[in-house]
Amino acid sequence: MSYLGLDLGTSGLRALLTDAAGAVLGESVQGYGASHPRPGWSEQDPQHWIDALEAAVADLAATCPAFADLDAIAVAGHMHGATLLDRDGTVIRPCILWNDTRAHREAARLDAMDDVRELSGNIVFPGFTAPKLDWLRTHEPGNFARVSKAVLPATYLNLYLTGEAVCDMSDASGTAWLDVGARAWSEPLLRAGHMTQEQMPRLVEGSAVAGHLRADLARRWGLRPGITVAGGAGDNAAAACGIGALHDGQGFVSLGTSGVVLVARDGFHPAPGTALHSFCHAVPGRWYQMGVMLAATDCLNWLSRITGETPAGLTGALGPELQAPGRLRFLPYLSGERTPHNDAGLRGGFHGLGIETDRRDLTRAVLEGVAFGLRDCADALARTGARPASLFVIGGGAASTHWVEMLATVLDTPLHRVAGGAFGVALGAARLARVAATGAAPETVMQPPRVSETIAPRADLVDAFAEAHAAFRALALRDTGEVR
Ligand code: XUL
Repeated sequence: MSYLGLDLGTSGLRALLTDAAGAVLGESVQGYGASHPRPGWSEQDPQHWIDALEAAVADLAATCPAFADLDAIAVAGHMHGATLLDRDGTVIRPCILWNDTRAHREAARLDAMDDVRELSGNIVFPGFTAPKLDWLRTHEPGNFARVSKAVLPATYLNLYLTGEAVCDMSDASGTAWLDVGARAWSEPLLRAGHMTQEQMPRLVEGSAVAGHLRADLARRWGLRPGITVAGGAGDNAAAACGIGALHDGQGFVSLGTSGVVLVARDGFHPAPGTALHSFCHAVPGRWYQMGVMLAATDCLNWLSRITGETPAGLTGALGPELQAPGRLRFLPYLSGERTPHNDAGLRGGFHGLGIETDRRDLTRAVLEGVAFGLRDCADALARTGARPASLFVIGGGAASTHWVEMLATVLDTPLHRVAGGAFGVALGAARLARVAATGAAPETVMQPPRVSETIAPRADLVDAFAEAHAAFRALALRDTGEVR
């Protein structure tokens, strides 16, 4: 038997085929773009997702004989996107994506309403789905009147696969329409957002059966009838499944385009005041919390662009030995910020430049600034009782030993690097498919990957980095106006 995990990402779709033990049998990646018709806008045509899915399936069917033994599929998608369907299931307008900030006024309005944070467990961020629909109501009333279903990107693929709009709890958590503690659509939240239960997809747990592959697709793809389609997940919950983070305190830090510190929780511990995300996990009875910074490796890529040196060249020039932090500080808010400041308009900057500052100083300050931003996320998590003894480190930045040792020291937490192979969002989705089809216990399927190396904090530098982090916090608070 084989299992197909689909990672419906912002820049492309990754399809991963695994066997019943979770070993990778094949993979196909299909790219697509987003359009940015105005500053702060970010949209995608849902047809591109379908085209990418069809191309990936054709690729796997041609290259992996095991595809013919497919038992189940699950989709993990980029979260929060508003895909709007009319009565006939036709897409009304391009999907408004998670990184689109046009609805910031609507988000602030919803966030200020009584009980909204209490019920959703989260701040209503401008990227969430509810403010997007509220924006549509005022700016595109004709389109708003036609909305028969408002679904997330992964749900749109579930609809394509099964014929029914079904959404999992983890993805639904990012809409600001879900009562995240009760794992159900919330009537008061829907009312606040001028939406109705009828416009929502059916909810299931991510590891439960959402439906079965449409007969016409099964025939065309050369598969037996009745292939299981699981509920699926939002991308971060799927990544947690891929890395085996199910139990309280297990988690990862991601040094990707954006930066994430994610910790699984046995219970629901909302903390909207610190701009943490408190979301349902993709398996029943569990939640997770995460802090998100919007630019992590993006900051190093920015420095690379303006200096004309590759990111690896920049970090390589620092040498292998981690130094005590310098006096130059970098605020990493190049794309605004979520945790802990929740300020889409916040911007980055250097502080303490001198005539002697050179490129190595800038690089060190950028790496430190990102690590301090992730420390802010970890501090916000710690205030809710989430204090992981160790974390996995994933994402492109994890390739730099210098950066990972700095991050371990700043977080004062050992970081595990993962030994080769797949462990990401698509693997998490394939594992959800397997649980849905076989009824296996999630704990047995979602095991942590093999650790290749554990990088410990540099005990002699922990205090120096803690002091530098305090100076960084003071500068950030000054810029956000939280403290003057
Ligand atoms: C999570 C978030 C992103 C998107 C895109 O809140 O906005 O992780 O899911 O990857």
